[in-house]
Amino acid sequence: MGLPKQSKPAPERFLLASRERKQRTPPFYWLQLATFQRSPPELSLTGSVGVKWSSAARARLHTVAMKFVRFIMRSAAAVSVPKHIEHFAKFSPSPLSIKQFLDFGSTNACEKTSFVFLRQELPVRLCNIMKEINLLPDELLTTPSVQMVHSWYIQSLMEILEFLDKNPDDHKVLGEFVDALVTIRNRHNDVVTTMAQGVIEYKETFPQDSATNQNIQYFLDRFYMSRISIRMLINQHTLVFDGTTNPVHPSIIGSIDSHCQVGDVIQDAFQNAKMLCDQYYLRSPDLILQEMSSKKNEPISIVYVPSHLYHMLFELFKNAMRATIDTHESSNSLPPIQVKVSLGGEDMSIKVSDKGGGVPFRKTEKLFSYMYSTAPAPKIGDHTRPPLAGFGYGLPISRLYAKYFQGDLQLFSMEGHGTDAVVYLKALSTDSIERLPVYNKTALKNYKVSHEADDWCIPRKEPLDLRPFKVAK
Ligand SMILES: Nc1ncnc2c1ncn2[C@@H]1O[C@H](COP(=O)(O)OP(=O)(O)O)[C@@H](O)[C@H]1O
Ligand SMILES: [Mg+2]
Repeated sequence: MGLPKQSKPAPERFLLASRERKQRTPPFYWLQLATFQRSPPELSLTGSVGVKWSSAARARLHTVAMKFVRFIMRSAAAVSVPKHIEHFAKFSPSPLSIKQFLDFGSTNACEKTSFVFLRQELPVRLCNIMKEINLLPDELLTTPSVQMVHSWYIQSLMEILEFLDKNPDDHKVLGEFVDALVTIRNRHNDVVTTMAQGVIEYKETFPQDSATNQNIQYFLDRFYMSRISIRMLINQHTLVFDGTTNPVHPSIIGSIDSHCQVGDVIQDAFQNAKMLCDQYYLRSPDLILQEMSSKKNEPISIVYVPSHLYHMLFELFKNAMRATIDTHESSNSLPPIQVKVSLGGEDMSIKVSDKGGGVPFRKTEKLFSYMYSTAPAPKIGDHTRPPLAGFGYGLPISRLYAKYFQGDLQLFSMEGHGTDAVVYLKALSTDSIERLPVYNKTALKNYKVSHEADDWCIPRKEPLDLRPFKVAK
C-alpha cells in the first residue's frame, strides 16, 4: 500500500478547490453514473396495517420503491465520487518490478492477495491521474471526447470501490472481481483514440500557444503512462486468475514472458509492418538482423512483456519503411533496414537503422509530440485497415512503453542520410520497475502555464542594421 503523501499547503489547496469549482459536469456524466450503481438491498414490502393490497398493486409498489431506492443510492454514490477521488489521490501509487509481477503469478500465486492489493492500488492510480485530468485547460477538458473519457474513469473507479467492503475469502467475490476488471478493460479500449479526438477538436477550435501545447504534452505522457500501468495490473490479474493455465508456454505468466526471445519479436513486428507497407506502396525494404550476445549461438532473451516490445518495434519499422520508400521513390532497389540487438549486464539495446533521409536535428524532439505528424490523419473509428502512419502517436507511445519499465527510446538522425532509433530496456527483471506518475506539488507546478519571456535571445531572421552604430568620419 502506498504511503500517504504530504498534505498540500494552504494556497495550493485553494487553487485546487477553485479549479474544481470551475469544472462543469455535463448531463451525460450523470447518465453514465446511472448504470454502475450497486444493486439495492432487498426490500421487504409489507402493506400498511389496515390496507389490503392486491398482488398487482403490491408488485407496482415494489417497482416504484425499488426505483426510488436506486435513485437515492445513485445520488448518494455520485455525490461521494469527489470525496473518493480526494481520498485515494492522497496515496502514491506503488510501482512493481517485473520480478514482483512474476511472483504474483507464479505457482503459489495467491488470488486473494492480488485482489486485496488491486482493490486499493487501482483506485490510487485512477484517482492520481483523475486529479490531473481536472487540471487540463478548460477548452480541452470540456470537449465531448475528454468528458467521455473522464466519465469512463469515474464509472470504473466506482465499480472497483464496490469491492472495498467485500470478503476476500469468498470465491464468488473473487470471480466477480475478475469479471469487473474485464468490463473495465473493455470500457477503456478506445481511450487513446478518444483522447486523440479531443486533442484534434481542441486544436481545430482554439489558437495554439506553445505553453499550452507543452502542458498537454506533459499531461498526455503521464495519462497514457498511467493507462499502460493500469492495463498491466488488470491484464496480469485477469490472465493469471481466469482459471486457465498455459501448459504450452510455461514461461509465460500473464502477459510476461520470462524467456522473451527478442529476435522472434523483431521478425514478427517486421513481417507485419512489411505486409502493411506492401499494401500501401507495393514494395518494401528487407531486414538485416544481427544479435550481439556474450553467449555465442544463443538467441538473446529477456524477461519482458512481448506485446510491449512488439508495439515499439512495429511502430519503428513502419516509420523506417515509410521514410525509406519516400526517399528512394525513383530508385529500383531499396536499402535494407538494419537491426542490431545487444545484451549487456545492465541494458538490452535494440538499434533500428534506416537510410530514409533522416530529419533535421531541430525537429527530433517534435517527433515525440502528440500534436505532430507529417502524414495525413486517418479517420477515427475506421478500423478496416490499420494505418501505416497518421496520428503522430507512434513514437510518443512507443517511448512510454520503453520508459514504463525504466528503459527509453531515442532517435539519432542525420539529415540527408537516415535515422537510428534505439530502444533501451533493462536486462534484469529486478531493475525493470514500473515508472508511474504521481499527483503532487511538483506535478501541479508543471501545469501552471507560464507566459514569461524566454531567458535566451531569439535569433533574428534579418541581418542586424548596423547603421546606427556607424561613427561619423
Ligand atoms: N525513421 C524516420 N525517418 C524519418 N522521419 C521519421 C522517422 N520516424 C519518424 N519520423 C517522422 O516523425 C513523425 C512522427 O512519427 P510517429 O510518431 O510514428 O507518427 P506517424 O508515423 O503517425 O506520423 C512522422 O510523421 C515522420 O515525419
Ligand atoms: Mg509512425
